[in-house]
Amino acid sequence: MTWLVTGGAGYIGAHVVREMLGQGLRVVAVDDLSTGVAGRVRPAPLVVGSVLDRALLDRTIAEHDVTGVVHIAAKKQVGESVEDPLTYYRENISGLVTLLEACRSAGVDRFVFSSSAATYGLPDVDLVDEDTPGVPLSPYGETKLVGEWVMRDCAAAFGLRYMALRYFNVAGTASPELADPGVFNLIPLVFRELDAGARPKVFGNDYPTPDGTCIRDYVHVADIAAAHLAAARALDDGAGSATYNIGRGEGSSVLEVLEVIGQVTGRDVTPQVVGRRPGDPARVVAAVSRIRDGLGFSATRDLHDMVATAWAGWRAARDRPPLSGG
Ligand code: WQD
Repeated sequence: MTWLVTGGAGYIGAHVVREMLGQGLRVVAVDDLSTGVAGRVRPAPLVVGSVLDRALLDRTIAEHDVTGVVHIAAKKQVGESVEDPLTYYRENISGLVTLLEACRSAGVDRFVFSSSAATYGLPDVDLVDEDTPGVPLSPYGETKLVGEWVMRDCAAAFGLRYMALRYFNVAGTASPELADPGVFNLIPLVFRELDAGARPKVFGNDYPTPDGTCIRDYVHVADIAAAHLAAARALDDGAGSATYNIGRGEGSSVLEVLEVIGQVTGRDVTPQVVGRRPGDPARVVAAVSRIRDGLGFSATRDLHDMVATAWAGWRAARDRPPLSGG
């Protein structure tokens, strides 16, 4: 009875590993360390390798008595996926298919999949529920939606039981050493500007929102990890397949996020407004009743908690060398 967590050495994966270990589950991580850090999975065992390596997956599943998989390993940068779609289809789709083949042949039928609000594209609704049609705007979002279709078809064909978890805007950290090392999203990008003595950028303030800036549903990575645990436990208890949003159901504008960053850091966050970023929807906020009713899960951490923990992690990374591998 072991859960295999792919991408377990990454930002989100390491939080999931820690949450599962903390709740007494047995875990083995597989990670190719392309962006992950080996030390983050401890004390769980780490198998270094790719989800494209079928033999490695077969061996890991057999040696660790794996009965369920949380599949988080994936490429996740929207812009990069536009430049290099084949890498995204290989890593995110071929990787998923290889993993599902290994699961099928070993009789592993429990599968939690890291999906994304990027599957929705430009939703024209106040709250996006799981039945909102998916029209992704990037190869990245397409790979997540196609991944859901692959699992749906496997469920129909040979009894895979899956939970597709559509993350909204993940932020924060449960402890400084697990912080997101990437500087791709709003909060770390603002931290970087502040450290450089520059003014944070706001990508457009002429959206049809109350303050003119884009609204997103920011959700703490510790809540994301708790949702994975709830999904894994439900599958262990015999639950059938489902697709769930993971958000807070509350929107925050870019200016509201900046205000919280100002409170937490004590810095002047007066922004410079630059042009809109192509492809940015004005508002993406999750409907969260399905996961509340289906898994009994609700996010509990607020935006201040996300920003405060992200800032602590940012400063810790700045002040010490990165965690070494091994
Ligand atoms: C948030 C808001 C920007 C930087 C992306 C992916 C999504 C998911 C999460 C993976 C937007 C604005 C940003 C800045 C700004 N990824 N912004 N100034 O685009 O909502 O979602 O990451 O699963 O699929 O699309 O997140 O953090 O880039 O931007 O004004 O310097 O902040 O325009 O409105 P996004 P983000």
